[in-house]
Amino acid sequence: AGPVDVDVTQIQPGQRIVILWASRPVFVVRRTPEALKGLREPKLTSMLRDPDSQTLQQPDYARNWHRSIKEEFLVVVGICTHLGCVPLFLPSPDASTPAPDWPGGFFCPCHGSKYDLAARVFQGVPAPYNLPVPPNVFPDDKTLRIG
Ligand code: FES
Repeated sequence: AGPVDVDVTQIQPGQRIVILWASRPVFVVRRTPEALKGLREPKLTSMLRDPDSQTLQQPDYARNWHRSIKEEFLVVVGICTHLGCVPLFLPSPDASTPAPDWPGGFFCPCHGSKYDLAARVFQGVPAPYNLPVPPNVFPDDKTLRIG
């Protein structure tokens, strides 16, 4: 399987789409300004296992606080780093949430691992790592190329 192109202008703010790449689900999330602001809150980052993504889970261009090339667009492999279930997308802090103070993110229904909207894993859950960032590039303003 080769690279897959996605027209990111079709993704609404706050929306997540799932793209199949190399037989894996890849999550692409268009984050809102509020969501991006939340990613830097010490209240959140103090609850994360690896807030600065020190482990080798991503390419250099995603080794930053938003874990992506463009702040707005998160691109991660949607496979829980515990035992490989596909986490649910629960973006809203106030929907039916898996934890008090849920900031919005991904929740794995298999054993309860939690990830924020940069797909960074919380402490105290079985998953050991943040969701990995697949190779990706923006060949032009509207196009994301995965792979
Ligand atoms: Fe996700 Fe176990 S597979 S928590």
